[in-house]
Amino acid sequence: MYAVEPNPSRLETIKAGRSFFFEEGLDVLIKSALDNGSLIPTDSYANSVKHSFAVFSCVGTPDNPDGSSNLEYVMSAAKQAAQYMQPGAIYIQKSTVPVGTGLQIIAIFDKLGVQAPYISNPEFLREGTAVHDTLYFDRIVAGGDDKDAVETVLGIYQKLEESRDKITKLSGVSTGNKSGQYMATSLNSAELIKVAANAFLAMKISFANSIARLSDAVDADIVEVMDAVGADARIGRSFLNAGRGYGGGCFPKDVSGLIASGLKNGVELELIQATQSLNDSMPGYIVKKLHTALGGIKNKKIAILGLAFKAGTSDVRRSPGVTIANILAQSGATVTTYDPQAQEQAAEWLYEGISQNFSINDALAGVDAVVIATDWPEILTYPPTLYAKTMKGAILMDAVNALSRHRMESHNLTYIGVGR
Ligand code: UDX
Repeated sequence: MYAVEPNPSRLETIKAGRSFFFEEGLDVLIKSALDNGSLIPTDSYANSVKHSFAVFSCVGTPDNPDGSSNLEYVMSAAKQAAQYMQPGAIYIQKSTVPVGTGLQIIAIFDKLGVQAPYISNPEFLREGTAVHDTLYFDRIVAGGDDKDAVETVLGIYQKLEESRDKITKLSGVSTGNKSGQYMATSLNSAELIKVAANAFLAMKISFANSIARLSDAVDADIVEVMDAVGADARIGRSFLNAGRGYGGGCFPKDVSGLIASGLKNGVELELIQATQSLNDSMPGYIVKKLHTALGGIKNKKIAILGLAFKAGTSDVRRSPGVTIANILAQSGATVTTYDPQAQEQAAEWLYEGISQNFSINDALAGVDAVVIATDWPEILTYPPTLYAKTMKGAILMDAVNALSRHRMESHNLTYIGVGR
C-alpha cells in the first residue's frame, strides 16, 4: 500500500514511522507496516497510482469563507491521479464532499479519457478514536453506478475485518461493535449520508445546549434531563452532552457545507441553520456566565484548561477552548492556558498576550477563575484541593459538564456548569 503525501515534512515524519498528529494506536501501526514493507510512503502519484487497483482520495476539504466546501485539493488529487490510473483501477472518494462532487469528478475523468469507476466511500471515524472506529465500524457505505466496483470496495473492508483482532492487539486500542453493516448505495446517496449523519449529531448537541440554556433559567440539571431523555432507545444518550458546543475539523464545516448545498439546490435547511447559530453562540454564553460570576471580565485573570477541540487529539481547529480564550482576552482579561497535547497547534490561533503553560499548576497560579474547556483525563482528575490552593479566586466554570458539583463545592470552589 502506498501513502501519497505531498508535504515534505509530513512525509519525512511518516517515513520515520510516526504520524504527524497525535492519534491513539496509530504510530505503532505505521511503524510495523513500514517495517514489514506493506506501507510505502511517497510524494509521487506516478510511482504509486500506476501500481494500484484501488486509489483512495483522503484529502482535506476545508470550508470557504461563505461556508461552502473548498474542493481545491479534491479536484487536484483527482486530476493528478487520473494521469496514472490503470485500466480496471477504482477511484474511491473518502474525503467529505458536498453531494454532486462525484458527478463533477466523473465528468473530469471522461474529459481526460479515464474510464475508472468512481465510488463514494464516506469516512465516519472520530479523531482520537480513529483506529478503533476504523476497525469497529457501525457501517461501511460504498456508493456508485458500477456494482462490481462497489462490491470490490466493500470487500476491501471485509478483508480488514478479518485481520481486526491482530490489528487491535498491535495498536492497543479497545474493541467495540463487531456487527457493523455493509451498505451499497447510489453515488449521491453516499455523499449525502456522510454530511447528513454529521449534521444530525451536531443537531443533537445543539439541541442539548438549547435545553441547557433553559435549564439554567429554570434551575434544572441538564445532565439529569438528558440522562432520562437519552434513556429512550429511540433517542439514545450519545451526543446529548451540553457544554461549550462542538468544534473540530468536521462538524462546523459539514454543517455549513450542508447549508450551502441546500441553498445551491433551492432548499433552505432551517434546522441545520439553527444548529449552527446556536453552536456559534455557545462560547459567548460561557463568557457571559463568567462575567456574571466575576462581576466583569476586564482585568481579571482567567485560566483555560483544554485547547484541543476534544480530548484525545492535538487538533485545535474551531476549538471552543481557543475561542473562549480569545473572547476573554479581547474583553480585557489576562488569559493563561494549558493543554496536554495541543499547545503547539494552538499557538497560531491564540491572540497575542495569551500565555501557554507547561502544567495545570502553572496555568492556575493566581487566577480569579478557571474554565474547563476540554475533557482530558489529566484535567478531569486534577485534585480539587489543588484548585483551591493554586488559584486566587474560587470560580470553576465546567464548560464540558464533566465534574461533580458536589465534590468541587465541598472544596470551597464555586462550581458553574452549563445548564446545571
Ligand atoms: C465527527 C464525527 O463524530 C465522525 O463520525 C466524523 O467522521 C468526523 O466528525 P470528530 O470531529 O472527530 O468526529 O469528533 P466528535 O467526537 O464527533 O466530537 C465533535 C465535537 O462535538 C467535539 O468538540 C466534542 O467535544 C463535541 N461534543 C460531542 C459535544 O459537545 N457534545 C457531545 O455530546 C458530543
